[in-house]
Amino acid sequence: MKLSTLGSIFSFLAGTNALTLNIASSGGNKSSSLLYGLLYEDIYHSGDGGLYGELIRNRAFQGSSANRVASLDRNTDYWHPVGEGVTLEIDTSSPALSSSLPYQMRVDVPAGTTGRVGFYNDGFWGFNVDATQEYIASLYMRGEYSGTVETYFHSSTSDSVLGSTTTSIASSAGKWTQGYSPVFHPTASGADANNTFYFTFDGAQLAGKSIYVNLLSVFKQTYKNRINGVRTDLAEALDGLSQKYIRLPGGNNMEGLYSPYYWKWNETIGDLVNRPGRPGTWGDINTDGFGLVEQMQLAEDLGLEVILGVWAGLYLNGQLIAEADLDPYVDQVMDELEFLLGDTSTTYGSLRASLGHPAPYKLAYIEVGNEDYLNGGTSSYYAYRYAAFHNAISAAYPTIPLISTINPNPINTEGAALDLHIYGNQAYFASLFGTFDQASRSYPVFVNEYAATNTGSNTRGEIGAQTLGMACAEAIFLLGCERNSDVVVGSAYGALIKSYDEEPGTVAVIKHTANEVLRTMSYYVQKLFAENMGSETVPVSVNGGGFGPVYWSATRDAEGKTILKLVNYGGEIGEENAVQVVVEGSSAGTATLTSLTADSVDSVNNLEALGGEASVITTTTLQGNNGVFSVAFDKAYEIVILVV
Ligand SMILES: *[C@@H]1O[C@H](CO)[C@@H](O)[C@H](O)[C@H]1NC(C)=O
Ligand SMILES: *[C@@H]1O[C@H](CO)[C@@H](O)[C@H](O)[C@H]1NC(C)=O
Ligand SMILES: *[C@@H]1O[C@H](CO)[C@@H](O)[C@H](O)[C@H]1NC(C)=O
Repeated sequence: MKLSTLGSIFSFLAGTNALTLNIASSGGNKSSSLLYGLLYEDIYHSGDGGLYGELIRNRAFQGSSANRVASLDRNTDYWHPVGEGVTLEIDTSSPALSSSLPYQMRVDVPAGTTGRVGFYNDGFWGFNVDATQEYIASLYMRGEYSGTVETYFHSSTSDSVLGSTTTSIASSAGKWTQGYSPVFHPTASGADANNTFYFTFDGAQLAGKSIYVNLLSVFKQTYKNRINGVRTDLAEALDGLSQKYIRLPGGNNMEGLYSPYYWKWNETIGDLVNRPGRPGTWGDINTDGFGLVEQMQLAEDLGLEVILGVWAGLYLNGQLIAEADLDPYVDQVMDELEFLLGDTSTTYGSLRASLGHPAPYKLAYIEVGNEDYLNGGTSSYYAYRYAAFHNAISAAYPTIPLISTINPNPINTEGAALDLHIYGNQAYFASLFGTFDQASRSYPVFVNEYAATNTGSNTRGEIGAQTLGMACAEAIFLLGCERNSDVVVGSAYGALIKSYDEEPGTVAVIKHTANEVLRTMSYYVQKLFAENMGSETVPVSVNGGGFGPVYWSATRDAEGKTILKLVNYGGEIGEENAVQVVVEGSSAGTATLTSLTADSVDSVNNLEALGGEASVITTTTLQGNNGVFSVAFDKAYEIVILVV
């Protein structure tokens, strides 16, 4: 964005065809305070191996993944033996660590062994080893052993140990003993993420014997130092988005692929030994270590309102709970709500308190299901599923509004909210600008999932990284939401977080590797839009053109600042094509101008080693005169936000 230091003169010189926007001083509608939000679900390592701070992969042998399908087949994937002749096997001998974690790893040590023996883990595409940070390791073991456990990171790249800790443990054959390493700093940071994590034991003592291990864990210090918390860099990236709400726990992952593996709140809380995990929807086992309490804690730590998704009786394969069988599932949701909202005199409210959160949580909305129109779900949703949950929840919590996942809401009375999910290519998103202009004002709308998943009019598959053009198209769509934010209550991009290593080929707001967080073009659109959002819409009248290739929306905040968002979508650039902006009733001589653009419409943000961020954000002061400003685009694809 170039500065026009002589804005008023340019405004005078601009051709008679110049686009002129007159921003009214009154006459708008109240905006939704929640307009920009997040959808969290565990998809391609958003949770396990992503946000969730656990660094060990396959820590409790809860299942596996083959050809991108999760299953309950147990194996020792990601584990490797240490010591000659040492073998690792899945074992189900008694006693189990818990009924939820009935599989353990047996370590068989040959007779005559000396030196250190044990096993190491590959992590989730390696480990982040940072000498400035604290780590802690732990394990459960069974078998006769009284000696030391050494735990350490090892760099495959430099073939060196990056600091080790030793702890003593005395375990016996008949029962499980938990051992913790001291809190440790690695002595050196890894040159890259190509590191492994070792647990070793005194081989002479184990010669000719076996030990059994389970729930093997390494955490780096977490965001706000929460126990069983989340990865700091990813949480900071979420915080940096400045969004207002989070919808959790999903998404298709909440629904489950097939019976009985929907997301069960009561199996995601409390001691980790009591969390069985389950086959997730997106090809990986969910450990459920990042459970309901951890997700609510993250929402609190980020200052986000919560939209709670509850399972509504439909699996993704189309399996349905019949009307006659639905009551127990409704009861489970009521138990979950008592856990979240009940006071400490209630059964589940007191359970919440015992887990460290005496104060009830807050829920802004409850969403009944997810995409219940999928795979034959529509008729039962209208016939009985929505009503069953609606009636029970609204009787107990009449002030919490419910959201339908199908349009229209089955209980179609005024104020009945619905959630639309919108995916498509760039051209489609740019075409959605006017979608809500004629929408009924009686039914609040969420777009709790959206994404432009490919460039231009491309219909084949998804692209791996959002281009500037796609991000500008999403911005046009969001302008349409913002102009109508009296009825469009919230919007959230799907998906929020993915592992770059696992899923380089599809879109997300944020991608991560063990060592890096990649903020996409869409990330910056959402951040700038959320950080520049007023509390009411403002009418804008136009001379010299209409919407396209330039699109806009204006809001005003509680302090009376006017915020104009503009998207140039392949339009003219330069001072001679500057947009003239007249803020009626303003005598301001300066405005703050923020621009998001990149070299070309095809530019993408990438990992540092692959070129890094192409997006460029600048914030400058624009000179004007008596509320009149001349805003020139520097690039054909550019987002500009003017605050007066
Ligand atoms: C990690 O290092 C090992 C040993 O140098 C090498 O064989 C392997 O390819 C590396 N892995 C990655 C992902 O770079
Ligand atoms: C969780 O609740 C379901 C349904 O009530 C029940 O079948 C299951 O046993 C519970 N799990 C635990 C660990 O209590
Ligand atoms: C306010 O909402 C009404 C519909 O209720 C709509 O016609 C009008 O254009 C909106 N005004 C603004 C400035 O968005």
